[in-house]
Amino acid sequence: MGFDHKGIRMRRLRSAPWIREMLSETRLSPADLIWPLFVIEGQNAREAVQSMPGVERTSIDLLIEKAKQARDLGIPAIALFPVVPSDKKDESASESANEDNLMCRAIRALKKDVPEIGIVADVALDPYTSHGHDGLVRDGIILNDETVEVLCRQAVVQAKAGADIIAPSDMMDGRVSGIRAALDEAGYTQISIMAYAAKFASCFYGPFRDAVQSGGFLKGDKKTYQMNPANASEALREVELDIGEGADMVMVKPGLPYLDLVYRVKTAFNMPTFAYHVSGEYSMLKAASEKGYLDYEAAMMETLLGFKRAGCDGILTYAALDAAGLLAKQRS
Ligand code: PBG
Repeated sequence: MGFDHKGIRMRRLRSAPWIREMLSETRLSPADLIWPLFVIEGQNAREAVQSMPGVERTSIDLLIEKAKQARDLGIPAIALFPVVPSDKKDESASESANEDNLMCRAIRALKKDVPEIGIVADVALDPYTSHGHDGLVRDGIILNDETVEVLCRQAVVQAKAGADIIAPSDMMDGRVSGIRAALDEAGYTQISIMAYAAKFASCFYGPFRDAVQSGGFLKGDKKTYQMNPANASEALREVELDIGEGADMVMVKPGLPYLDLVYRVKTAFNMPTFAYHVSGEYSMLKAASEKGYLDYEAAMMETLLGFKRAGCDGILTYAALDAAGLLAKQRS
């Protein structure tokens, strides 16, 4: 033999299912998953999202059924996104601070009927603005501090409705400290903040904008507030700032193309670290499987495991229910 391997054979440890299972360094559990859901007005209403096969928008009564399914499979939390009727959208996102808006009604109904599941409430103005931006706009400029004031009101009405986690996804500067102060002042000191800390201006959000019907309204792009996909040092700075401002948990978004940052954020800050496996990433898996190029279940489970291996404490994914269902089947 022309090589000296000193008897080392890595393959010994891969020789049978039991030993592969025993030596598995990373495991995916339903408890790692947060399921994003879209809510619409109406009763017994469901609409398929054309660019996200398997995902639908539902009215509050059916949203409750989904939350129960998630709870029964061990998914700890859902993330809510409202589809705001166009006659409720305006330049100043006034509907966002209405205590009886669709989002707040959904939160209240969920808290009443499925109190066991955590509710992550998105804070950003894009569902409510007639121009589709996450902030207020004047003369084509996205206003920072004026936007933060509206975000604070939005966060407080959501907390009042019963949200457990406030998740600002807007990328305005200073919004985490603003929201923390507003929540505390209103008496919601126990409500935590999951900051979309490093959120990039990504084309992978395309199907989401279809789902919440904000894409058609959006004028221009979000590059003056969401990050440049080329930047990693800046992402670490964004995360550090949000932690300093009082974020309890941080998020990297999108997921797969940014796993280097998940790893670096977890290593650098030791904070509860989440990634958002966003709409476009989900749709790619679905499209490839519909074409017969990939097995959806296998590709999806391998993807989610990759997030865990990179250091995620949790993953927001549209595949959460599918994954939790598969995990339950594997155990039985
Ligand atoms: C907007 C928001 C977006 C997503 C979550 N919140 C889109 C955007 O920034 O335009 C994207 C989620 C996804 O693509 O799954 N505040």
